[in-house]
Formats: sequence, structure tokens, C-alpha cells
Amino acid sequence: MVLLSARVERARLSASARAAQRARELRAAGKSIVELAQGEPDFNTPDHVIEAAYKAMRAGQTHYTQVDGTPELKAAIVAKFKRENGIECKPENISAGAGGKQVLYNALMATLDPGDEVLIPAPSWVAYADITHFAEGIPVWIPTRPENRFKLTPEQLEKSVTKKSKWLMLNSPSNPSGAVYSAEELRALVPVLERHPSLWIISDDMYEHVLFDGRKFATLAAIAPQLAPRTLTVNGVSKTFAMTGWRLGYACGPVELIRAMARMQGQSSLNPSSVSQAAGVAALNGPMDIVYSRCAEFQARRDFIVPRLNAVPGLSCDKPHGAFYVYVSCAGWIGKKTPQGTVIGNDADVCVHLLEHGVALPNGAGYGLSPYFRVSFASSLDNLEEACKRIKAAGESLR
Ligand SMILES: Cc1ncc(COP(=O)(O)O)c(C=O)c1O
Repeated sequence: MVLLSARVERARLSASARAAQRARELRAAGKSIVELAQGEPDFNTPDHVIEAAYKAMRAGQTHYTQVDGTPELKAAIVAKFKRENGIECKPENISAGAGGKQVLYNALMATLDPGDEVLIPAPSWVAYADITHFAEGIPVWIPTRPENRFKLTPEQLEKSVTKKSKWLMLNSPSNPSGAVYSAEELRALVPVLERHPSLWIISDDMYEHVLFDGRKFATLAAIAPQLAPRTLTVNGVSKTFAMTGWRLGYACGPVELIRAMARMQGQSSLNPSSVSQAAGVAALNGPMDIVYSRCAEFQARRDFIVPRLNAVPGLSCDKPHGAFYVYVSCAGWIGKKTPQGTVIGNDADVCVHLLEHGVALPNGAGYGLSPYFRVSFASSLDNLEEACKRIKAAGESLR
């Protein structure tokens, strides 16, 4: 009998991890499953990054490093923020960890006291609410509207702030909706943020380079430098450079917060892998053409999948402006009956029904807004085509 803590109850498996896990089990049992649940590029890490990692290992960079990043990595991150975002910072403003997820975890663990609120526009990446729970904070979902392309409005923000609100999570391009905030839209939030000086902001820019139709990326600390002293800008190499397995993410923020985050990391994993950090330097300082050509590939896949999903009766979605997800409304399937006679009551039932037709997808409830499901199009066109056929068949089987 294992003695589990109350804390472990607050650590949940995400909807996407659950869907991917179920897909693996069904495949192992011999069923054909197309899995579009995982949020990671299906490309390989660029060769020059792999070479740099190899060289670093040969050169003996295989030891512990500074807890929150080597000087070389921090210098590359400082240069990246200046070059790409116009954010001026110093190495002491930088924290690197084992993925953007660890960086976010450190930030929330270092700042939340029991009962503190974290404002999360819904739909959003599940981890924000899960980490908040874990850190004994309270996630406060702010439902956004499809007519606003799932973006938070200044009015919605104003209404949601209380004395207990400690953080606002902003994520653009968004997982799971693909929403992208323009500079104008971010600027519109600034007066509200200025009226509430005790509210801090996390700008999660993880999908910065997955932007479609020539859109320009904007981030809060650059748009409103007066808010930089209470903004943590989070980014990483996972999505931009197809480096999810290397586990390297980073953030830029005020020194006191950065030091507190290093203390959290110092009592858990210590430094991110020395080899990954060397690879990260090569990625950040290296050429970007491969990143742009992969983005064009994602856009072609988006253009392939969106009309096919919209052609299925009962489903609807907008073209995402960034990231590699479509957030599909399945409102038209709710209340219908499957051939087995089960009534579809919510988006979890929708995903069970889709799985019966051989497609593994996470449902919207985990992202805080129902009834939807999320489709990742970071997969080959063949996979996407097969998934669309199966989704159509699943829809046609409903009465
Ligand atoms: C919105 C968002 N932020 C951050 C992350 C964290 O990525 P990583 O920990 O691989 O850097 C993810 C991963 O799925 C994400 O979707």
C-alpha cells in the first residue's frame, strides 16, 4: 500500500495525454487509430542543432551547469528577445528550465499562496489550471467567445479581476484555439492592466513562430514596456525548432521573480540538460529559414483540414491564425444518438464516439470551453485525410 499525499490528487493527467495514451492502448490491441492529440511538430530537430549537441558532448559539456541556464544560453536568449521581440533584458532577467512547462511551474509555485487566483481565458492549454491547482491557487476561467475568435476582451478582463487575482495568463498564438492577438488587441488590454497594479501577467509565446497568412507576432512586454516589471514572457525551443524531447524552455522577467524561480528549480531538477542547453544556443543563434518553411507546411495542412471538418454536418470551426490546432465546435452532435443507442451528452461523449471510429482527440472540457474538441494538424497530410474520413463517418453514423 503506497501512502499518497493529498498533493498528488491535484496532479492530473491532461486530456491530450489521456487521448494519446488511449490511442496507444487501442493500437497495441490491434485497432487502427489515427491520433491527432499530441501537440508537437512531427518534423525532426534541424541537423545543425543536433551537430551542436554532439560537439558539446564531445567537448565535455556533460556536467551540471548553473541552475537556471549557462551564460552562453542566457546570452543567446537575451539576444533573441532583443532581435525578435524588441524586449531589452539582461542575463539576470532570464530563467531556463526543462521546457516552458517547468518554467511556468516554477513561476506559479514561487508566487501562489493558497487561495490566490489565476485568470485563465478559456479555452486554454490545460496545464495553466492544473499547475495552479497543484500550487494551491484557484484557476478562474474567463470564457471567451468564438465571435471574438476566442480572444479576451478588455471588458471581460475588467469584470474578472478581484483582490485575489495574482496572474493573468495570455497565450498567443493559442493552444488550443489558434487565436492570435494583434498588437492593437494587446494594447486594448493595457489600460485594464494598468488599473490593477497587483495583477501580474504571464505571456506564453511558445507558438510565436507558427503564424499564418503573414501575421505579425506581438507580445505584451514589448507593446507595453511599463508592464515589463510585472510580466513574465515565456518561450522555448519545443515548437519553434521541433525540439520537444530536448526539454528546454525559458522566460524573461523581473530579477526577484527569476531568482525565486531558480530556487524552485534548485529543489527539483536543478539545471536543464547541459546538452540541450548547448543545442538551444545553436537553435537560437542559428538560421531561421527551416522554421519559416515548416510554418508554411503547417499552413498548407490547416488549409487542407479546415474545409473538410466544416463539411461534416454538426461540426464547425474557424481557420486558426497560428499554432497547429483547430478547435472544433461539436454543438451539432450533442443530443444525437450513436448506432449503439447512446445519446451524446457532451464533448467527452463525442470523443469516445470518435475513438470508436478510430480517431483519438482530446475533448474541449479540459481546455475550459465546451462543447468542442481539439485537432492537432502537426501530422502528415495522409494522416489528416484519413482522420477527416473517419470523423465524417462518425458524424454520418449519428441519428
Ligand atoms: C501553450 C503552451 N505553452 C507551453 C507549452 C510547453 O512546452 P514545453 O514544455 O515543451 O516547452 C506548451 C506545450 O504543449 C503549450 O502548448
